[in-house]
Amino acid sequence: HNHIDHATPEKVQAAIAANDTHAHIPAYETLENYQKTGGYDALLTLRTNGNWEDVQAKIKDSGLRGLGGAGFPSGTKWGFVRANAGPRYLAVNGDEGEPGTFKDRYYLERTPHLFLEGMLIAAWAVEADTCFIYMRDEYPAVLKILADEIHALEDAGIVAKGYIDLRRGAGAYICGEESAMIESIEGKRGLPRHRPPYVAQVGIFNRPTLVHNVETLHWIARICREGPEVLNSTEKNGRTGLRSYSVSGRVAKPGVYLLPAGSTITDIIDAAGGMADGHVFKAYQPGGPSSGLLPAAMNDIPLDFDTLQPHGTFIGSAAVVVLSDHDRARDAALNMLKFFEDESCGQCTPCRVGCEKAVKLMQADTWDQNLLTELCTAMTDASICGLGQAAPNPIKLTIQHFPDEI
Ligand code: NAI
Ligand code: SF4
Repeated sequence: HNHIDHATPEKVQAAIAANDTHAHIPAYETLENYQKTGGYDALLTLRTNGNWEDVQAKIKDSGLRGLGGAGFPSGTKWGFVRANAGPRYLAVNGDEGEPGTFKDRYYLERTPHLFLEGMLIAAWAVEADTCFIYMRDEYPAVLKILADEIHALEDAGIVAKGYIDLRRGAGAYICGEESAMIESIEGKRGLPRHRPPYVAQVGIFNRPTLVHNVETLHWIARICREGPEVLNSTEKNGRTGLRSYSVSGRVAKPGVYLLPAGSTITDIIDAAGGMADGHVFKAYQPGGPSSGLLPAAMNDIPLDFDTLQPHGTFIGSAAVVVLSDHDRARDAALNMLKFFEDESCGQCTPCRVGCEKAVKLMQADTWDQNLLTELCTAMTDASICGLGQAAPNPIKLTIQHFPDEI
């Protein structure tokens, strides 16, 4: 239950003055310390004497699903990639751009080698020629830690020089969409591709590519070291496993909280020290702005994959933002749509024009519900990628749950 060390303007200015843009590197587990507790034993054993299907069986048994937000079964993905002839690549999606999401940063600033070992195990499993790490440039401490620790791995002979290629994102939210990320890795503008074909078939430079999120790889290492029980032995509210909730907003102690996957918003607010002083719980964003807002009355839903679909939303990257009686849902929804308007790549009309029109309609004192609903349908049905398809969710849920405000 540690807290994120925020880069305040004062700290940034002090860092610039000291000509040190990596001034705030937190204490983290180095290669030496990681190896003292058996780190990389799992990888080295697998490389000499391992069967990838045994590891895949363990991953499936653990129930691990993609923790970037989509929840695709991780072991199954390995099989899809391996079904295509090599050479193959692995790409790590570290472009943690979903507003309110900071769990990947949390783990990378503390235990980078759990992530790196998980990545190398996955790369071994699909026989990847190169591992590309696409890392958010807004995380300078993480970039510095990874650059240093990749060098340490090369010096220790655990990976060949150049096998891990660390790339910096450039601040575009859309480059977290996996095919746009791949375009960006290839040196092009980050525009999402149509799918199928999936990146497991046609990925980086048209080769089969395994794409995993940072936290997914962190858990792959833990499953290999500690067994599938590390995830599948926790049960709550009919759900199995653990989730790293990034909790922010009107709570006493914002931060990353590792809780049972069946936790409700009540459990999550409790873990985060309750509501901030003087605030009464009113609404919450369960999983990033594309998941919209739910009212406080819906406080008994286990916040896991699949459980929110009946309510017209999803858990995604588990970016929980708590709103209070000081906030208006319509303002928060407008803020979300302005974000999508800014970040739309502009490639397709329903999203490019739709986001702009939605923002204008939402700025009116009274929302034109019929027109907004029609616009939402066009955007969901006709946009190329998840950004445009999910952008209407904050509008739909605000109309449904906060009619008094609009
Ligand atoms: P998706 O469900 O379309 O795909 C998930 C993964 O499974 C992808 O790697 C895809 O290639 C693979 N896949 C799916 N079907 C496949 C098939 N038949 N064959 C081979 N591979 C297959 O979801 P998508 O669009 O990749 O991600 C959407 C999620 O991303 C949302 O839930 C959202 O919450 C999350 N997100 C997370 C962000 C973050 O910062 N962590 C930022 C923005 C969105
Ligand atoms: Fe680009 Fe939006 Fe279309 Fe996605 S939906 S391809 S972000 S314009």
